[in-house]
Amino acid sequence: MTAIHDPSHPPAIDGGATARFSPDFVWGVAASAAQTESRRGRGPSNWDAFCDARGAVLDGSTNALCTGFEEHYPADLALLAGAGVQAFRFSIAWPRIQPSAADSVSAAGLDYYDRLVDSMLAKGITPWPTLFHWDVPTWAGDFRDRDICQRLADYAAIVAERLGDRISQWIVLNEPNSVALRGYAAQIHAPALNSADAAYAAIHHQNLAQGLAFQALRATLPGTHRIGTTVNLQPVRAEGGHAENQAAAQRVDMLWNRAFVDPLYGKGYPQPVAELVAPFVVDGDMPVIAAQPDFLGMNYYSRIYIKQAANHMFGLAQGQPPHDAPATDYFHVEPDGLTEMLVRLHHDYGAPELYVTETGFAMPDPPPRDGVVDDAGRIAHLASYLKAAQAAHAQGVRLKGLFYWSATDNWEWGQGFAKRFGLIHVDRTSLARTPKRSLGYFARCIEHNAALDAPTG
Ligand code: FCB
Repeated sequence: MTAIHDPSHPPAIDGGATARFSPDFVWGVAASAAQTESRRGRGPSNWDAFCDARGAVLDGSTNALCTGFEEHYPADLALLAGAGVQAFRFSIAWPRIQPSAADSVSAAGLDYYDRLVDSMLAKGITPWPTLFHWDVPTWAGDFRDRDICQRLADYAAIVAERLGDRISQWIVLNEPNSVALRGYAAQIHAPALNSADAAYAAIHHQNLAQGLAFQALRATLPGTHRIGTTVNLQPVRAEGGHAENQAAAQRVDMLWNRAFVDPLYGKGYPQPVAELVAPFVVDGDMPVIAAQPDFLGMNYYSRIYIKQAANHMFGLAQGQPPHDAPATDYFHVEPDGLTEMLVRLHHDYGAPELYVTETGFAMPDPPPRDGVVDDAGRIAHLASYLKAAQAAHAQGVRLKGLFYWSATDNWEWGQGFAKRFGLIHVDRTSLARTPKRSLGYFARCIEHNAALDAPTG
């Protein structure tokens, strides 16, 4: 810890004026198996196929090794525990649990997650598993096909049976909206399809898979366990505020946000999504989908800007953010969109318990020097997002925790290794871990349970 504490920047707790989060607020970090684990010891997946296709990943890298997490997690956990991180949102790789068929349950795969969970607990870090963070074993097919729904639920039950004695909070899906729209419509994620109908099928089948998984988990786990799910939720704006882009922006709000959260809370699909997914809906699906989760996870990076575009799929295209929004290496920075979306969820879905299950910044970090990476830019952005989360809390939103994306630099899907999000730097060749100053800043926020000012100078 001494390496990352910076005594020249004492915490800006100013006589109690800095508002704190609720006393039970969870300070965590997030990661996923498909972005950190190697391919060793698991079955082939949809993302293996994606990045083995030439030209699919921007920097030409693959997911063969990622950060070598299976071997290096002790170093990661030691740094995180040293910073006082309370929870680790990680994911279980479905292709590691059922590598080649429904009945091919891997003892080695389950043993690995057993060890990982025990190591977290031994360090005082609460494990928060996500059951599905995008990696589908090849044998299980994809979300155009209804059969995958029960397969995913059966897999969830296998994991819950094994780890349920030590884990009491579960996240079922990660960002089904990214999967459906980036993977089945926009071709930039696995399975790299370019079809509106495939996207509608993927919307409904992920919602159904999630509902069935909730049922399987509730049947397997004690009633005291808390089960939630995570969606990438973004306020949608018409590009330039122009009237002619408004209808397209509203359509995106339906497809990106409400198609996933409305049915989860028993409101059904909003129009026009209901009509678009109708060919895939079977009697009895909607009550299964209305799982009424114990909490809702929101991943937030920035707003979406949309413009109408007659010849594009859905009649729209991604627009430009306002010129004054600062950019990172990947997304632009809009802290007030975080407050806006949390407040909206609070009002629209009956004041649910909310967690920010991901937020973070890809930055062009300098290389490590004297055992630390000086990432002042990330700290400034993080401070602004923590303050935005705090603002929602101050308005009565039941915000129960926040997970920084990501614990370490990792493999960023179609972007490859170029996007560094971590609080911990990973050397691409040696895989050595070096803490960044942002980990020290996060540690001080945890210590004070507050969104502290970014250090100046
Ligand atoms: C989210 C994903 C996560 C990571 C971050 C940057 O959409 O859930 O895996 O890629 O974006």
